[in-house]
Amino acid sequence: MTTPEETPGTPASEPGLPATEEAAALPAAPAAITRIFSGMQPSGELHIGNWLGALANWVALQDRHPCIFSIVDLHAITQDYEPAEMPARIRDMALGWLAAGIDPERSVVFVQSAVPEHAELAWIFNTLVPLGLLERMTQFKDKAKNQPENVNSGLLTYPLLQAADIAIYKADGVPVGEDQVQHLEMARDAVRKFNNRYGEVFPEPQPILSPARKVLGLDGERKMSKSLNNQIGLNDSPELVWAKLAPAKTDVRRKKRTDPGVPEDCNIFAWHGFFSSPGERAWAAEGCRTAGIGCRDCKQVLAKNIDAALAPMRERRAALERHPGRVDEILAAGAATLRPIARATMEEVRERMGLDARVRYAGQPPAPPLRGID
Ligand code: TRP
Repeated sequence: MTTPEETPGTPASEPGLPATEEAAALPAAPAAITRIFSGMQPSGELHIGNWLGALANWVALQDRHPCIFSIVDLHAITQDYEPAEMPARIRDMALGWLAAGIDPERSVVFVQSAVPEHAELAWIFNTLVPLGLLERMTQFKDKAKNQPENVNSGLLTYPLLQAADIAIYKADGVPVGEDQVQHLEMARDAVRKFNNRYGEVFPEPQPILSPARKVLGLDGERKMSKSLNNQIGLNDSPELVWAKLAPAKTDVRRKKRTDPGVPEDCNIFAWHGFFSSPGERAWAAEGCRTAGIGCRDCKQVLAKNIDAALAPMRERRAALERHPGRVDEILAAGAATLRPIARATMEEVRERMGLDARVRYAGQPPAPPLRGID
């Protein structure tokens, strides 16, 4: 399969790894990335769209930078949800990440709500960013349209919680897809406003764009997504992958086995681009154009290659599932690592804002136990 590679939003973001000689010589080359943060909503089963669009990039980045990856449950609750299902959604996402190769020895993996300072800093950003900017965000407008019965304020201030996620750890590199670029711009705006008003505290985070990979679903029309039920799950068995691929849409020109097709108009061929070797791609393209092969032949090779990519993930997942509790331990350890960092940032923030530490602790005896409750 193709190797994921980071494409920094700006050229030569690392002095050690310049994109080109000229870029390295630019005096205004942006500072090296020192810490990466990204997050994903616990939205259920991970699929190959999540892998190609985000996770593969995260896995590659953890070799080169300190990384923090968050399951953003506080973002998820801006949409209707069932509280009883949330714990399983969170664990399932963690399991999926670890299975995909996020390594808790190298990256910090945690649940957003386990570090309360995210919400605290989001409130501060709320006081700095004008309402009008938030109302203009594309995703806010889309979501407000899609869930008219639940246009809660959190939907509007969602990007400021995202800004706080990044800023609370002073992260400066944020791997995201195209759809998050506007949110990243808002995060830069929020920290800039803070720095201007209260003094330099936060770096401006740079987007690290995933290589452009729009992964369509099995319908060959819409973006792969669980809600459209057009996905291949990262944990799908070889049998299930084949059961999904066999009836999947191909170029409409190939009604009969003898009808030639146009590979560029076939989503199956696009997927070969993600999973197959150059030789296999050439074979598929040629066979399609000349009707030398049938769509079924083409899909069989794809299924084999998808399975080769998924097999190690399924194995890692099965190994983790044999140790229930391990995922919880990893998540709790991640939160424990991050809490002191988040606390220190908030101390600094409050200090700069005149929210003075002396009124919080000075000379106080430890709080007495609450009567009637304990
Ligand atoms: N909004 C992001 C998404 O839906 C998830 C997210 C939350 C995030 N906080 C973040 C991504 C911080 C990057 C950095 O994909």
